[in-house]
Amino acid sequence: MTKISLPTCSPLLTKEFIYGVATASFQIEGGSTHRLPCIWDTFCDTPGKIADNSNGHVACDHYNNWKKDIDLIESLGVDAYRLSISWPRVITKSGELNPEGVKFYTDILDELKKRNIKAFVTLYHWDLPQHLEDEGGWLNRETAYAFAHYVDLITFAFGDRVHSYATLNEPFCSAFLGYEIGIHAPGKVGKQYGRKAAHHLLLAHGLAMTVLKQNSPTTLNGIVLNFTPCYSISEDADDIAATAFADDYLNQWYMKPIMDGTYPAIIEQLPSTHLPDIHDGDMAIISQSIDYLGINFYTRQFYKAHPTEIYEPIKPTGPLTDMGWEIYPKSFTELLVTLNNTYTLPPIFITENGAAMPDSYNNGEINDVDRLDYYNSHLNAVHNATEQGVRIDGYFAWSLMDNFEWAEGYLKRFGIVYVDYSTQQRTIKNSGLAYKALISNR
Ligand code: NOJ
Repeated sequence: MTKISLPTCSPLLTKEFIYGVATASFQIEGGSTHRLPCIWDTFCDTPGKIADNSNGHVACDHYNNWKKDIDLIESLGVDAYRLSISWPRVITKSGELNPEGVKFYTDILDELKKRNIKAFVTLYHWDLPQHLEDEGGWLNRETAYAFAHYVDLITFAFGDRVHSYATLNEPFCSAFLGYEIGIHAPGKVGKQYGRKAAHHLLLAHGLAMTVLKQNSPTTLNGIVLNFTPCYSISEDADDIAATAFADDYLNQWYMKPIMDGTYPAIIEQLPSTHLPDIHDGDMAIISQSIDYLGINFYTRQFYKAHPTEIYEPIKPTGPLTDMGWEIYPKSFTELLVTLNNTYTLPPIFITENGAAMPDSYNNGEINDVDRLDYYNSHLNAVHNATEQGVRIDGYFAWSLMDNFEWAEGYLKRFGIVYVDYSTQQRTIKNSGLAYKALISNR
C-alpha cells in the first residue's frame, strides 16, 4: 500500500471537495508563558494523570515554529487548515482581549490567507482558562456566557480572515471524560456532573451561534461532534437495549439537542440528581440552525448489558491502532448513512479522522503503511456514504503532526508528519506523502 485510491467518479476527487489537516492549540502550541493557565496545565501537574508525566509547556513549539508549520501545510497541498484558538491566550482574566495572543492568531490567519489556505477555526478545543474552572468550570452556567463573550470579542478581532468557525470540539469529551469519568481535565468524577457540564457546553454552543450569526454571517458556522457507533455484542434483547442506551447516552446526547431541540428519551430514566438544570428557552438556543456539522470518527465500540451500570463496553479485538481502537471503516459509512436517515442534516465536514500507529523513523523515512491503509479505507468509507446520498463537503486528517495526545501524553503519534521532540524537526510520513498525492492528483 503506497497510495490512497478512490473510485474515479468519486465526489472526493473533485476540486470542490475540501481537504485539510487539523490540530488543536494545547496539543501543538507550547508557549505557555504567553497565556493564562488552563485546566490541562493543572491536570498535567496532577501526578498519575498523563501516561508519560508530560505537559503542554513546549509541545511541538508551534508558538515559535508556526511559520515553518504553515510552509509544511502548504507543501502538503491542502485546501484548508483546521486550528483551534486558545481561550486563555486571547482573553485576560478580566475578560478583555489580550493583544499579544490575538496577534499570534491574526498573523497565522493572515499567512494562511496569503497562501490561499482556508482557515477552519475551532473556538474551544478543551483548554478552559483555569480561573473559570476555579468558579466551577462547565458545571457553572456562567461559563457558557463567558464563552459567548470571548467568541464575541475574538470573532470581531479576526474580521474576515476565517472561512469557518466551530463553536466546540467534541463536547462529549469535555463533559463525559472531563466531568463524569475524570480521565480528562479537570478530572472530576461523578454521574451528578456529566449531564450538567454537557448542558452548559451545549448552551455555550447555542449562545456562541447567536454571536457568530451576528458578527460573522458569511463564514460557515457550526459545531464538531465525535461519534463512536455502538454495536451490540449479541442478539440478546438486553444487550441490544443496553447498546441503544449507550448510543443515546454517549453519542446522541450531544446531537439530538442541536438537531431536534430535545435530549434523548432516556433522560426520563436518569435519577433527578443527575439531570441538568434546563432553563426555559435553553433548548431553542441550543437547536438553532448551523451551517455545517463537523464529524470526528475514529472507531466503533461493542457493548453488552450490565446489571447495575446498564451498559458495559467490551474490550476491542481485531485490527487495532496504537490507541487500542478497533479499525473498522465500514462503521464510518454506517454512521454517516444512519445520521442522514435520522436527522435533517446540514452539509457535513469530516473534521477529524486518523490513527495513532507505532511509527519508526528510519534514515529520514517513516514508512507508516498501517496509517496509510487506515486513510485509504476510511476515505473509501466516506466515498461509500456519498454514494448512499450523504452530502459531505470536506475531510480533515487528524493530525497535521504528532502532538500531545491528552492523557496519553506524547506516547501516541497521530500525525501525517513526524515530530522529533528533541529537535522539533518535522518529517512528512509516507501517509502524508500519499495524502498529498491524492490531493494534487484530483
Ligand atoms: C479527538 C480530539 O479532538 C483530538 O484532540 C484528539 O487528539 C483526537 N481525537 C485523537 O484522540
